[in-house]
Amino acid sequence: MTIGFIGLGNMGLAMLRGIKEKRQDKLVYAVKTQQSARRLEMELGFGPSPLEEVYESDVIFLAVKPVNYPYFLKELSGVLRKEQIIVTMAPGFSLEQVQSFFMEEVKVLRSMPATPAQIGMSVSGLCFSDSLTKTEKDRLRDIFNSFGWSHDMDESLMEAFGSFCGVMPAFLMNLIEAMADQAVAWGIPRKQAYLLAGQIMQGSGALLLETGLHPAQLKDQVTSPGGTTIEGLLALEEWGGARAMQKAMQASYAKSIAMGENF
Ligand SMILES: NC(=O)c1ccc[n+]([C@@H]2O[C@H](COP(=O)([O-])OP(=O)(O)OC[C@H]3O[C@@H](n4cnc5c(N)ncnc54)[C@H](OP(=O)(O)O)[C@@H]3O)[C@@H](O)[C@H]2O)c1
Repeated sequence: MTIGFIGLGNMGLAMLRGIKEKRQDKLVYAVKTQQSARRLEMELGFGPSPLEEVYESDVIFLAVKPVNYPYFLKELSGVLRKEQIIVTMAPGFSLEQVQSFFMEEVKVLRSMPATPAQIGMSVSGLCFSDSLTKTEKDRLRDIFNSFGWSHDMDESLMEAFGSFCGVMPAFLMNLIEAMADQAVAWGIPRKQAYLLAGQIMQGSGALLLETGLHPAQLKDQVTSPGGTTIEGLLALEEWGGARAMQKAMQASYAKSIAMGENF
C-alpha cells in the first residue's frame, strides 16, 4: 500500500523511519520548507512529493502540528476517496472532530505515538472509527507495530494515554538529565552518566516486563533493612518525587483537554 505523511517533523519522521525499515510500502511525504525537504532527501534517500500526491495515499498520516489540522482536513474533504484512511496524532482531536469536516462517513484512526518510534520502540495508543473494517484495523495495527508496540484504547482514554505514553519520553529525558547532573557533581564523566542512566532505565523496564512481578516486589528486592536504597526512597518521598510525576502527567492531561476544546 502507499503510506503518505503530511508533515515529517520529529514524530512523522520517527514513524516513517520505522516503517521504512520493517515494511515494503511505498512511502510519500510532504513538508513545508525547502530546508526540511533538502535535509530529508539527504537522510532518507528520497525527496518529498507534492501534497496532491500525498493526498492519494491509501493511508494518510496527518503529522503536522495540531494547529494545522483544520486546514488539511478541509483540503482532504475535497479529495478523499471513501476507501482511504486518515491517521491523526494530535492530542485532544477527536474522531468526531475529524468527521465534522466530511459530508460522507470517513475512515479514521486516532493515534498517539511516541518518539522512540525511531528505534522501533514507540508505545502507541490506537482508537478506530466505526467505519474501519476488521481487516483495515489489523493492517493499521501492523503499521504501528512496525515501529513499536500498539494498544487499542477506548477514545475516552486517549487523553490519558497521551499524557502517559506520549509525554513520557520527554519527562524521562528530564529525569535522566537530573540524575546525570548529580552523577557529574560526584565526578562521573557526563557521557558515561548518560549511558548509565539510559541502561538502568532500560534494565528496570525490562525487569518489570520480563519477570511480571509487581513493581512493589521489585522495589522491595533492592531495599535492604537499614540500607542505602530505602534511605534514598524516603528522601524521594519527602521531596515529592513520585507526586511530582503525577502532577506533571495531570498538567499534560489538562492541556490536552483544553487543546481539544479549542479546535
Ligand atoms: N513530538 C512528539 O513527541 C509527539 C508525540 C505524539 C504526537 N505528536 C503529534 O505529532 C504531530 C507532529 O508533531 P511534531 O512534533 O512531529 O511536529 P514538527 O516537528 O513541528 O513537524 C511538523 C511538520 O509539519 C510540516 N508542515 C507544516 N506546515 C506544512 C504544510 N503547510 N505543508 C506540508 N507540511 C507542513 C513541517 O514541515 P517543515 O519542516 O518544512 O516546516 C514539519 O515537517 C502533532 O500533531 C503532534 O501533536 C507528537
